[in-house]
Amino acid sequence: MAKMDPASISSVAQPPHVVVGMCGSTGIALAPLYLMNIAISYPMIDVQVVMSRTASSFVPKSTMEQFAHVVTESPINHITLADWADLIVVIPATADFLARVAAGLADTDLSLLAITHDRPLLIFPNMSSAMWKNPRVQENVSRVRQFGHTVVEPIEGPMFESATRQLTTGHVMPDPDVFAAMVAKKVSG
Ligand SMILES: Cc1cc2nc3c(=O)[nH]c(=O)nc-3n(C[C@H](O)[C@H](O)[C@H](O)COP(=O)(O)O)c2cc1C
Repeated sequence: MAKMDPASISSVAQPPHVVVGMCGSTGIALAPLYLMNIAISYPMIDVQVVMSRTASSFVPKSTMEQFAHVVTESPINHITLADWADLIVVIPATADFLARVAAGLADTDLSLLAITHDRPLLIFPNMSSAMWKNPRVQENVSRVRQFGHTVVEPIEGPMFESATRQLTTGHVMPDPDVFAAMVAKKVSG
């Protein structure tokens, strides 16, 4: 994907506000690179990160804090943050997160925020191919899309499965530069 011209975003009166929600998928190990790509290529985007409990048990929030402000209070002030955000992006989205959004569940800080936000979410799933192809997961993906959210089709390829410490086949997020360009495009209208 061609990178966006940052000038097309900086001409917007207010810096775009983006919340990056993070889930407890194996892909969380790569999440700093995704934040770094936004910070380098689109520094005019104001980013706040909300990590799920599982995400912050996999990677400490201090790692993400090198690239963006991380919201730490729990429970988070979901109403203020949902209002503040022009866009909520979720990486690496788990099957659990998709199920919560599909069912309208607000039982975690991140799903509470996602459900309070009144605009379409941009969701980047990341999981083993076995999980992604599960009919119940696919049903949830369809439902989430029917609600008007964008669920970016994950890319099939090699994935390190941290649960088994083996290489497996996964359905994973696009590369960080593609991700950053998609976020920038979405917030520039
Ligand atoms: C080591 C490990 C790796 C995991 N990787 C994934 C994954 O890649 N994708 C996924 O959907 N779930 C994965 N899970 C399961 C989620 O962590 C679990 O469903 C969790 O409840 C997700 O919560 P969250 O969406 O609130 O972060 C993994 C679990 C473990 C223990």
